[in-house]
Amino acid sequence: MENEVKVTPYEVKGILDDEEYKRLMKEFGIQGINQALLNRIKKHTKDIHFMLSRGVFFSHRDMDFILNEYEKGNKFFLYTGRGPSGGTHIGHLLPWIFTQWLQEKFKVDLWFQLTDDEKFMFRQDLELDQVKKLTEENILDIIALGFDPKKTHIIVDTKNSKTLYPEAIKVAKKITFSTTKAVFGFTNETNVGSIFFTAMQAVPAFLPSVLAKKNIPCLIPLGIDQDPHFRIARDVLPKLGYYKPSIMHSKFLSGLKVYGGKMSTSDPDSTIWTTDTPEEVRKKIMKHAFSGGQASIEEHRKKGGNPDIDVAYQWLNYFFEPDDKKLKKIHDDYKSGKLLTGELKSYLVDKINAFLKEHQKKRELAKKQVDKFMFKD
Ligand code: TRP
Repeated sequence: MENEVKVTPYEVKGILDDEEYKRLMKEFGIQGINQALLNRIKKHTKDIHFMLSRGVFFSHRDMDFILNEYEKGNKFFLYTGRGPSGGTHIGHLLPWIFTQWLQEKFKVDLWFQLTDDEKFMFRQDLELDQVKKLTEENILDIIALGFDPKKTHIIVDTKNSKTLYPEAIKVAKKITFSTTKAVFGFTNETNVGSIFFTAMQAVPAFLPSVLAKKNIPCLIPLGIDQDPHFRIARDVLPKLGYYKPSIMHSKFLSGLKVYGGKMSTSDPDSTIWTTDTPEEVRKKIMKHAFSGGQASIEEHRKKGGNPDIDVAYQWLNYFFEPDDKKLKKIHDDYKSGKLLTGELKSYLVDKINAFLKEHQKKRELAKKQVDKFMFKD
């Protein structure tokens, strides 16, 4: 079967398996996160987040620079973001949960950008009012993850344009149309706002340096599809006198229906939203999660299942079962046929629902905390 893989900020398609991620690393020119780097991180964090040890965060740009500076006493800041084009699904949470861990372990500031301008300009079906509403909803999911209000600064592009715009035009002046065409696949028919946008996404990578009037290293945890923006930013920022931002890349959480396929926001059955009820979660997982199990119980008991292509297993591995011992037992029992597909799925459903119960509670509490997190300019 042909598997045409494409990963850009504006299109993700194809089946992303380990081979494809390796190929992407070559194509993007990015480094794998190896044991030596993990050891070096662990010196500061004491433990290693399972998303690192299990390769969910699997590659990077210039992590050595971040750690060299940190060890010299020059702390970095974190930067990540969200394009508010819809509700938040659990796939969005992966890099944010990891970012929260980094913030806690390194005790550093985080700048979180909501690109309402981007989603308005790129999505023909969205009006600015809708994007504003989605921005407010998405912010609740972000705050619910437990970021430190004293160290977290949420910026919304249209709200903080007074601060962002003068910096963005400095970036934009150094980017040609021909570069954005090559990087994002734009054409002469692309609207001019979209062509400009990458300059806005570059700004938080050096804004803290502008505000502090001294250069501060920047580390950006992100889903790998966002890397192209920062290839441009890494080229431009040194020309403006700032450091190149460093990056850590995550893989995507698979959509429910096809292993390694994208979690599509246009197909509610391939996705779990942070606002789903326990019944909705159970129904979707039991009915739609692609299984590496056998067709009948007898066959499964005899031949065993294949965790490597099983979406329920991947979701436990990437997100919902942080305990390595428990995960290994599930892996081995599934492979041997001792654990059935229905049992595996049911285990996952309970894990997701326990997570969402807490998350939804914190999401409610977040409504009163928003103001503490918003960057005021
Ligand atoms: N463009 C991203 C999106 O569509 C949002 C974003 C802005 C972002 N700044 C970022 C993502 C920095 C990762 C890192 O979701």
